[in-house]
Amino acid sequence: MHRIIDSPFTAHHTAEGVSQGADLSGKRAVVTGGASGIGVETVRVLAARGAEVTIAARDLEDAARVAEEISSRTDGRAVQVKQLEHTDRASVVRFAEDWTGPLDLLINNAGVMRIPELTRDGQGHEMQLSTNYLGHADLTLRLRGALAAAGDGARVIMVSSSGHLFSPVVFEDVDIRFRPYDPLTAYGQAKTAEVLLAVGIAHRWADDGIVAHAVNPGAIATRLQRHVGGTLATPAHLQKTVEQGASTTVLAAVSPLLAAGEAQYLSDNAPAHVVEARPDGPEEIGRSVARYALDPDGADRLWTLSQALLGHH
Ligand SMILES: NC(=O)c1ccc[n+]([C@@H]2O[C@H](COP(=O)([O-])OP(=O)(O)OC[C@H]3O[C@@H](n4cnc5c(N)ncnc54)[C@H](OP(=O)(O)O)[C@@H]3O)[C@@H](O)[C@H]2O)c1
Repeated sequence: MHRIIDSPFTAHHTAEGVSQGADLSGKRAVVTGGASGIGVETVRVLAARGAEVTIAARDLEDAARVAEEISSRTDGRAVQVKQLEHTDRASVVRFAEDWTGPLDLLINNAGVMRIPELTRDGQGHEMQLSTNYLGHADLTLRLRGALAAAGDGARVIMVSSSGHLFSPVVFEDVDIRFRPYDPLTAYGQAKTAEVLLAVGIAHRWADDGIVAHAVNPGAIATRLQRHVGGTLATPAHLQKTVEQGASTTVLAAVSPLLAAGEAQYLSDNAPAHVVEARPDGPEEIGRSVARYALDPDGADRLWTLSQALLGHH
């Protein structure tokens, strides 16, 4: 059963606002894609609340500049940087093997949206699935020991999207070999897979004290929209600043209301409504989560498939 929490926050709250009073000192966090867009604000606020944050990024030079800038704005708290290319399995393995000690917060935030043409990674996986889902699934499975070592209360946050309402995971053809490629559908499938991973983790790793949630950040003008001409299609009153866009991620990471239990899909800082069909209009889409994305059987099926695709046993 999808447990509903009462959230005092709305779409207008910022990452700082929702984490007021949170003390993350002694906590260690990884934020993938933390060197751009809402990732930067996520890193900044987690660091400002006392966490030791590592940015996982494929461009180290860029990330080092961002880390330095954040460190200088958060009382010199050192933000670390580590290389991670999601579509390169060797890079994921390296990141996980190099990680030592416990990990309290894993924020799986990196992503690409609506790549115009069908593209594949080195293993032949469709690129949006590879970047948004497979890289994160591989990383998270490899970091399980570090998450468990954090003791009760480690959290994995999947930064998904309302785009998940545009496709379930098509289990018979995840890599889009038997159907026409559509950029939005491929994004939707990958974003559904991210929510299902949170469901699977919350179910399977509860005995290790590990919790997982998924979030929809909302519509924020970042580089993500480079393939679709920005957030122009989103009505102005639904657009968010980066500070607001990072809020649902930060809430999911720090709220005591979300410290245990089943995976939640949060949007605008509150649990979304579960729907059986895609609603009309951006407002309803923004506050909805598809039943298929929270389906425990779907989560099991994806877990098994992912282990096979990634070579985990
Ligand atoms: N902005 C929105 O309106 C919106 C709406 C719904 C969901 N989201 C989700 O929010 C998350 C953050 O997006 P954003 O808006 O902040 O976009 P962004 O500024 O483009 O950030 C995406 C990050 O992912 C990284 N990334 C992409 N491909 C990668 C790869 N193969 N390996 C490693 N890193 C990779 C990017 O690194 P590079 O700089 O090296 O490319 C970048 O740091 C994404 O998961 C996105 O789907 C955003």
